[in-house]
Order: sequence, then C-alpha cells, then structure tokens
Amino acid sequence: MEKLVIKGPTPLKGEVHINGAKNAAVAILPATLLIDGICTIENLPNISDVKISCEILEKLGAKIKWNSMNSVTIDTRHINTTTAPLDLTSKFRASYYIIGSMLSRIGEIEVGMPGGCKLGARPIDQHIKGFELLGAEVNVGNGTIHAKANKLVGTSIYMDIVSVGATINVMLASVLAEGTTTIDNAAKEPHIVDVANFLNTMGADIRGAGTDIIKINGVKKLTGNCTYSVVPDQIEAGTFMLAAVATKGDLLIKNCITKHLDSITAKILEVGGQVEDYGDSLRVYCNKRPLKANIKTLPYPGFPTDLQPQMGVVLSLADGTSIINESIWESRFQYTQELNKMGADIMAQGKTAIFQGVDHLSGAPVYSSDLRAGAALIIAGTAANGITEVYNLEHIDRGYENIEEKFRAIGANIERVSY
Ligand code: UD1
Repeated sequence: MEKLVIKGPTPLKGEVHINGAKNAAVAILPATLLIDGICTIENLPNISDVKISCEILEKLGAKIKWNSMNSVTIDTRHINTTTAPLDLTSKFRASYYIIGSMLSRIGEIEVGMPGGCKLGARPIDQHIKGFELLGAEVNVGNGTIHAKANKLVGTSIYMDIVSVGATINVMLASVLAEGTTTIDNAAKEPHIVDVANFLNTMGADIRGAGTDIIKINGVKKLTGNCTYSVVPDQIEAGTFMLAAVATKGDLLIKNCITKHLDSITAKILEVGGQVEDYGDSLRVYCNKRPLKANIKTLPYPGFPTDLQPQMGVVLSLADGTSIINESIWESRFQYTQELNKMGADIMAQGKTAIFQGVDHLSGAPVYSSDLRAGAALIIAGTAANGITEVYNLEHIDRGYENIEEKFRAIGANIERVSY
C-alpha cells in the first residue's frame, strides 16, 4: 500500500503542463471500436483508467501498440467477442461506453455493471432509454448489462436529465445507425465535443456537439487511418488553478484551453485571486487570504462538480462564510470530514455545505474517498501547517498522471511512501 506524505505549507510556484483529458480519453478509447481499421490516439493521460480501457479493448480482440507513455495505435479490425471482461468493466464508470460502441459496430454486448467513484446513486436509465429508442433490447441483471440489436435506426431522443455519459453513449450508438438521430437536452462538456471531433475525423457525421441539440447522420463505416490528439484536461487545469489560490502561490498552467476554464476563472477572481489568460496557458496567483464565495455546481458551462472539492479547500481557508450547493452528486461532501480533521470548520448536510473559513489548516492523516476528493486533500496538505498523510491513492491514480511529481516540480514537499 502507498500513501502521500506532504509537509506544508508551501506556496506553489512555477509551471505545470496539463495532460490530455481523462474523461475524453475514456470515451475515445471505446469509440475506436466503431472503426473497422487502425487509428492512433495521442495526448492520452497515463492513468489507470486509460490502462484498463486499453486492456478491455484487447480482451475484445483489438490490437494495441504503445508508441510512448501517452500514445497508442489501435487496430480494431478483428473484434471477436460480445462479452467484455466483467471484472475490468465493473472497475470504472466509463466502461459503459463499450455498450454504445459495440451495439453500433457488432449489435451485441455484455458488460459488468459500471463501477467508479462512489458519489451517490449513479443511474444509467438515460443511456438505456437512448439504446432502446434506437431499437436495442437491454437487460440488466446479475451485475451485468446485456444489450442486443438486429438493427439500430436513427430517431429523436430527449434526455430527461443533462447527462455527460448518456449523451456520449447515445452518440456512439447512433454513429453507424440507419438515418438521423437527434439528441435533445444534450450535455455540452468539452469532452463531448472532443469525442464528436474524434468520430468525425474517422468518418462520422455528427453536428452540434457542444450545444444542447446534437444531430448524428448515420454512416455505413468508419475507416480510421487517422491520428487524433485528446483535448487538454479541463479538470486537471482547474485543480492546479485552485491549488495556486489555496496555497497563495503563482502558477503558469500550460497546455490548457482557457475558454473551458471560464467558470473557474470567474470564481477565482471573486475570491480575490488573479488570472492572466495567454490563450493556451493561464497564470493564476493569489497573495492574500481568499475571500468568501458561494458556489453551485452545474453542467458545463457552469461550475464543474469535479472541481467542487478543490474549491472547497479554498473556501475552507477563506475570510468569511461560504456555501456550496452540489447539484449533480448526492455524496460529494465526504472530503469535508477529512478537511475538518485538519482544522477546517465545514458543516455538510445533503447537497449543501457551509464553510466557516479558518485562517490555517493543520496536517493530519486523511483518506481520499474518491478521485477529486483525493486531489483536494493534496492541495489541503500543501497549504496546511505540518505533515499530512493522504491514504487511498488508488482513487487519485485513476485520474491524475504523476500527481506527486507535478506538485513536487512546483515546490511541494511531497513523497509517495510504501507502508
Ligand atoms: C461524468 C464524468 C464525471 C462528472 C459527471 C458530471 C466521465 C467518465 N465522468 O460522469 O467525472 O462528475 O460527468 O459532470 O465523464 N443521471 C441519471 N440518469 C442517467 C445518467 C445520469 O439520472 O442515465 C444523473 C446522475 O445521477 C447525475 C447527473 O445525471 O446526477 C449527471 O450525471 P452524468 O453527467 O451522466 O455523469 P457521468 O457521465 O456518470
């Protein structure tokens, strides 16, 4: 087992390079199943969710060659089974994208019920509704999902709730369907646009990704023979932006799409930090105690739920009382108990948390309950006085490449230690 040992406080200073987006990568990799050919994906983050996605593709018959730590060439010409490895697919959430892709390409698939961060109930009714409207039969039972279709036919699908996963999955299922599919009330996150761009590069005909109506004109075949580079990770960039503010540091965050970070920039300015926009990089700095602010998490372009815990660290140190309303996940405040062990004063109930800002945090042993909670605890440990030990690193390694090396390079006193 491993833990991170952090000695603070350290104002984080210097440059940090942002990797490709985890949430785009874990959708683009299964999307390669739609291609009857070979393609190369670059700028993949080297994280455990990506490695498991590649293992699943191999078990389905794909041939994968790693060109470097962040680039793979995938040959999906010989997909030879309709059962995805149940143990691997139930390890993480995005394995559900195998369903949309395999339904479209082969017409049948069985996967384990998707796992992932425990953020509360994570229904997939909108995915299933979309598949069924396209003509598939879907059965859920014994911990698996089995989907089958003789033929998928394009139709109009209204999403009852704005869902990133359902939007992408229905898009995947429609790419090779007969006729036109319209997704209404679609999610608009940057990685939805990235998956659509990838598919269009491979020969799909998808229009409107990034708006709330997406139209997919079915095509007969995707042929590949292309190289595609994954979009920079909005959430990793936001994590370092908020780390700069929480530690009263000064960071140049390189290789990001600054437009994707507007909602975070707005909140950083509100709490008294400074943001300079250079197009593909951002300088974020803060030389005083942050001010209070209220946050409500919302689908893009609102403030992302995946940056709520990191923002929570900033507000736990702010001058005054702040409120966070979490509108996406019902159990996303587990990290507040850990911050309270470090001297924060946070009361969380249901989807609301009240942060009475304190002027400092003190190091303590803390446990990461999920991926973004883990990132928040690293920020808190870097800002806190004394030694913080962060446990349950498997969550953090799912989504951040070399996190401790990146923090060390900008001044943090952080070590990964076996115990
Ligand atoms: C994705 C992200 C996750 C992020 C979330 C919200 C990936 C791999 N994960 O998760 O990091 O926190 O978006 O930005 O991209 N819902 C339903 N029925 C459904 C689907 C969703 O009720 O069929 C609800 C969920 O319970 C939740 C809300 O819709 O309350 C949003 O979920 P969704 O956007 O689907 O999240 P994920 O795609 O699972």
